[in-house]
Amino acid sequence: MELHHRSDIITMVNKFYEKVKRDELLAPVFAHVDWPAHLPTMYNFWSSMLLGEQRYTGNPFQKHRTLPIEARHFDQWLKLFIETVDENFEGEKAEEIKMRAQSIARIFQHKMGLYQGN
Ligand code: HEM
Repeated sequence: MELHHRSDIITMVNKFYEKVKRDELLAPVFAHVDWPAHLPTMYNFWSSMLLGEQRYTGNPFQKHRTLPIEARHFDQWLKLFIETVDENFEGEKAEEIKMRAQSIARIFQHKMGLYQGN
């Protein structure tokens, strides 16, 4: 299936956070999250990124700055993200969302002084 519509983004985001919630390393970092608020934020974030919807206004980095996360959390986050995309989608937008996630993860890690050069 291609990743073309907001409904596809919603499917993708829901499946990704289902994995996150079951993940031993990541689940504790998300324990405080208000899911009914967070999920729609993420639908808006990714549909702004991918579909040009411009429904997300916020500063994602600020939300991560104080989280107890290290490079291994980013590695695991990306692994689950890429897995979710590959299990459910194919095509140009599927490739684009994986590239964007990797690039933002790299920027966050740079800003947090966690970058390992990979
Ligand atoms: C180690 C990897 C990551 C962890 C553990 C993580 C964790 C979190 C948590 C716990 C929140 C909720 C913050 C709160 O509202 O209290 C959040 C929000 C968010 N995350 Fe991440 N995140 C990670 C990587 C990323 C990456 C790579 C991206 C982008 C590609 C991203 C995008 C966002 C966005 C857009 C929000 C919403 C910010 C807002 O409320 O405006 N995160 N993340």
